[in-house]
Amino acid sequence: MPNVTRRIGLSLGADICWPGCYEEIVRRLHLTVPVGGDQVSFDVERVSVEPFNLRQPVKYDVVLDRLTHWFQTSREWIKKAVVMDDLYVLNNPWALQSMEKHTTYAAMMALGIKVPETWMLPPKSYDWDALPDAKPTLQRYARMFDLTRVGEQLGYPLFMKPYDGGAWVGVTKIDSPDELRAAYEDSGRRVMHLQRAVYPFDLFVRAIGIGPQVHCVKYDPDAPLHARYVVAFNFVNSEEWRELTDICLTINSFFGWEFNSCESLRKDGEFFPIDFANACPDFQVTSLHFHFPTLVKNMVRWSLFCAAHQRKMRKNLDWEPFFAIARQQDLPYREKLRQYAAIANARMETDKFNEFCATHLAHLDEVTWDFFGTPRAKELVQQKVTALFPGHEVEKFTEHYWGLLQFWRKCERERLDTAAPAGLAAVPTPIRGAEVGTQPLKSKGKKA
Ligand SMILES: Nc1ncnc2c1ncn2[C@@H]1O[C@H](COP(=O)(O)OP(=O)(O)O)[C@@H](O)[C@H]1O
Ligand SMILES: [Mg+2]
Repeated sequence: MPNVTRRIGLSLGADICWPGCYEEIVRRLHLTVPVGGDQVSFDVERVSVEPFNLRQPVKYDVVLDRLTHWFQTSREWIKKAVVMDDLYVLNNPWALQSMEKHTTYAAMMALGIKVPETWMLPPKSYDWDALPDAKPTLQRYARMFDLTRVGEQLGYPLFMKPYDGGAWVGVTKIDSPDELRAAYEDSGRRVMHLQRAVYPFDLFVRAIGIGPQVHCVKYDPDAPLHARYVVAFNFVNSEEWRELTDICLTINSFFGWEFNSCESLRKDGEFFPIDFANACPDFQVTSLHFHFPTLVKNMVRWSLFCAAHQRKMRKNLDWEPFFAIARQQDLPYREKLRQYAAIANARMETDKFNEFCATHLAHLDEVTWDFFGTPRAKELVQQKVTALFPGHEVEKFTEHYWGLLQFWRKCERERLDTAAPAGLAAVPTPIRGAEVGTQPLKSKGKKA
């Protein structure tokens, strides 16, 4: 059989921990896979930033990208490479560039997903110099509006947040008409949403999708940065887990995002997704700690599968099949979700992927378990902590995160020793056990 090498490029910025772990785990897999008469092996390389000729070919089959949402040169190199060289990239760069939070709210509302009531407001002020036509436009067409009335229609509490927001910037909880007026006065040139609060909620879940794999994590928005992803088990039942998985798969498949995080709040037994335009989410061990190895594994699986099969990237977003399901008025909500997720699983080739994992990556669990016990893994944790925390906190937090990774190894060992030796399940089974809180360490560390 001819030997061929599939190349995976890591398009990185400040990332330290996940690429180091990813590279080491792929290396330790010693993987060669027979595909269509070839014996395929894999090479991982970090993508450099340099001038490029648009006609110059690209050596990668798959690129795992961390730059598209903020670094133009790399984004445009990726776009050219997808169009001209058939590159496969996580995530679709056009969808990432053009679909802000607002479009995702509208699209998922159209599919019947329970996004809370949301209004958009024209901004409080404008940059008149940059927008010379703004004055005549507003003089002719802007309608005076009564902000208090909008607040009344939504009901309190509500949230004001930028229509294209991220990283909690400019997000305000509002409890009264006075607070609403004050927040609007402060909002300046930003275009804001007002959104009914899911309040009080009894659970906040982040569902992190990588390809067809969804990992649900309990989240505590009030905890310090290092403890927001909670180490908790059994926080949802299996039906809830499936619902969150179906929502995440629907969103990701709809927008061509293969690495995205979907935030949902539970109130009175129902899940309300509030923020799901998070493609390319936080992937730092200092945020994810206990959950980090699972996500690195999910990334290893999906990227190797895409590279091995030279999976074709969907360059266009084809929404009509989703809307056709949405239009079926007699179809209950849960059934619609199931059918959306079925489209997602078909597009993501979940069955073929599961078979690939079962056949070729059965040793990934053990390799990952071993790796996270090595000095190299600890060194990567320390490097990340050193980059984020003040010097006097480095040792304490390195030990903190290392302790959580070792706790993951303990839980994983129990799981591996009791689990059936099958491949990856399409719907992961929630881990069993008691809820465990992370230590309430206080940090003055820099924001991740
Ligand atoms: N409708 C809502 N109901 C309850 N809490 C909300 C709502 N919208 C936002 N929040 C709170 O504000 C935080 C930031 O809002 P989010 O929409 O996630 O913005 P960002 O994109 O900046 O993360 C959320 O994590 C949540 O704690
Ligand atoms: Mg958010």
